[in-house]
Amino acid sequence: MGRGRGRPDARKGEGNGMTAPEAIDLSRPGDPTPEGIDAHVTRVLAEATLAEKIGMMSGRGFFRAFAEDGRVWGARPYRAGGGIERLGVPALWFTDGPRGVARGQSTCFPCTMARGASFDPGLERRIGEAMGIEIRAQGCNLSGAVCVNLLRHPGWGRAQETYGEDPVLLAEMGMALGTGIQAHNVIATVKHFAANSIENSRFHVDVQIGERALHEVYLPHFREILDAGVMSVMTAYNRLNGEYCGQNPHLLTEILRGEWGFAGFVHSDWVMGVHEVHGAAAGLDIENPEPRVWGERLLAAVRAGHVSPFTIDTACRRILRALFTIAAAEDPLPAYPERLVACARHVALAREAAEKSAVLLENDGALPFGAGRVRRLAVLGRLAALANTGDHGSSDVRARHVVTALDALSARLGEKAVLHATEADGAGHVEAAIGAADAAVAVVGLTADEEGEYIPGDLSLGQDPAAAGPPRGARGGDRRDLRLPAAQVAMLRCAGAAASAAGKPLVVVIVAGSAVLVEEWREEASAILQTFYAGMEGGTALARLLFGDAVPSGRLPFTVARDPAHYPAFDPDATTACYDLWHGYPLLLRDGIQPRYAFGHGLSYTRFAYRGLKVARRDARLHASVAVCNLGEVAAGHAVLLFAEGPGGIERWPRKLIAFARVDLAPGETRIVDLEAPLQRLLHRDRGRWLLEPGRWRFLLCRDATDPAPLAAELRL
Ligand code: BGC
Repeated sequence: MGRGRGRPDARKGEGNGMTAPEAIDLSRPGDPTPEGIDAHVTRVLAEATLAEKIGMMSGRGFFRAFAEDGRVWGARPYRAGGGIERLGVPALWFTDGPRGVARGQSTCFPCTMARGASFDPGLERRIGEAMGIEIRAQGCNLSGAVCVNLLRHPGWGRAQETYGEDPVLLAEMGMALGTGIQAHNVIATVKHFAANSIENSRFHVDVQIGERALHEVYLPHFREILDAGVMSVMTAYNRLNGEYCGQNPHLLTEILRGEWGFAGFVHSDWVMGVHEVHGAAAGLDIENPEPRVWGERLLAAVRAGHVSPFTIDTACRRILRALFTIAAAEDPLPAYPERLVACARHVALAREAAEKSAVLLENDGALPFGAGRVRRLAVLGRLAALANTGDHGSSDVRARHVVTALDALSARLGEKAVLHATEADGAGHVEAAIGAADAAVAVVGLTADEEGEYIPGDLSLGQDPAAAGPPRGARGGDRRDLRLPAAQVAMLRCAGAAASAAGKPLVVVIVAGSAVLVEEWREEASAILQTFYAGMEGGTALARLLFGDAVPSGRLPFTVARDPAHYPAFDPDATTACYDLWHGYPLLLRDGIQPRYAFGHGLSYTRFAYRGLKVARRDARLHASVAVCNLGEVAAGHAVLLFAEGPGGIERWPRKLIAFARVDLAPGETRIVDLEAPLQRLLHRDRGRWLLEPGRWRFLLCRDATDPAPLAAELRL
């Protein structure tokens, strides 16, 4: 909480009963410089008792609060470490993300994967700032919104919470979100550290991984995000090379602190993230959301000499430094009133993000609909009328309103001009709707039932089951089948036949967190648009995209294969999983397999030409520039993607994304776009060292990862 704002008031669930007479006020440092903050931390550590220090190393009050709130997630801030009442030391108050602030009725943005498809860190930074404001306005100072686990396989249940299959995309977008949130003096935590890409077995699966894959594929984005100043890390539930991530000294101490020099704090994932007291010595600073394993046991372990007091002081120093850093900083806004939550500006940002993230996968010219040509529309599918913003796990955001496709299209064309039929209505209704319309839009895909964070039926979270209330059905989890549900495929076949017999276009809209295989029905469609879970304004954005008020500019943040066998092996029930260098576009490129839609694929209502690519190295950075021209007749945005190809002496990705930037162009306009990347993105790891393979490197501006004729420039490195 920044200077001049005051801390969040004492809340339900807070209070450890320590109001000793020697209470003194150490709530914020007098001197806001890093040295002043360190000196203040030293003073707090000198005043605090061992029990108070250990008290700061866990969350508190969550189970009771959750039960009291009828298990409504985010009904209040959750205390997640820090805090010594006697000394006025502030606590960490957690709220989750990432599709908005998982608290109250916040703005519901498009899911993270959608935002990944925008390839627009500037937009993501603005979303981060909006979240920072809404977090502050709702009494929290720690955000779990930055999720950057690599999408190794599209079946991962939580795919929607991350940005895609490429580490550079994850790094750029995660940096933008994290620094945007922190701009408002909220601590962002980057999660889940590390290699968390299977949902159903997340509590126990052991990911076996070698040094190269770990450092080159699964970790580099975490490092870049932390180097950009993100202050906290949340550990993953899974094991890595035999040890739980929450108590893995290789990850938390050798790599994070030793090699990367990270000075912030590390906290566990919720409830099941801590296993033994020795996790503190491995580098975990906070157990969340309750002292389930630590607390009294950690205190006893220190008293018995099993855990050193130095370990405790080190953890507390990290926590306090972060807390006092935000306490000492000046706020960008004079105040954070509750009316800023889901204010008109943030809702408009949610719509802008939905427009910029939709990916046009196919278009035979059916889109955009001409207003004169399409006056009556058949809107097909149950999902067209469903408020469907993503899963119902920890990232759930309960927006005040959600505009569905049906709402927005009815508002645009008039209710009578929109004929809705669902897969449950049967072929006759679908055919009749198409018969009475000028065109058809079918909304298909998934919901929280088919994918998402796995919510077991018994969500007792270690509480007394009586207090936890009646068990509910299990929801979400990994996808074992990447196709659409059978009833939707049947509806698309029927609609495709009716539309083509009548010479009317059928536009298919895919709502899903990652790849949906399209082979069975693709030929029925005149156009296919993937909108992901597009947030509270998704319907409005869709109507604008369909009718050309907005032009699609999203590009796929993952690979859509023709055959599920083209992805790496994926087992939601795995107890052990082996991760190597290969997944997504690099794997298909290596194997010479053409995907259905490659990473980076995305059409527009206009075309773009590239000229004059220049690449240079300046010290530890690469700089590139290219002229991009909008050849068409509509203004549009376009993301430019720069890949690198190495000299070929070592095993590495055949092509690797190293930088990207989005530009907006008027019809006929040309602009020079600058791209920049740390040279680090070209290096490979060899027994603890980072090496640059010397030789001729090629830099490619690709339409997608498989582009056979990219604009290229060479550089000897
Ligand atoms: C999720 C985390 C989340 C935490 C708290 C866990 O189940 O894995 O991503 O931040 O809950 O909501």
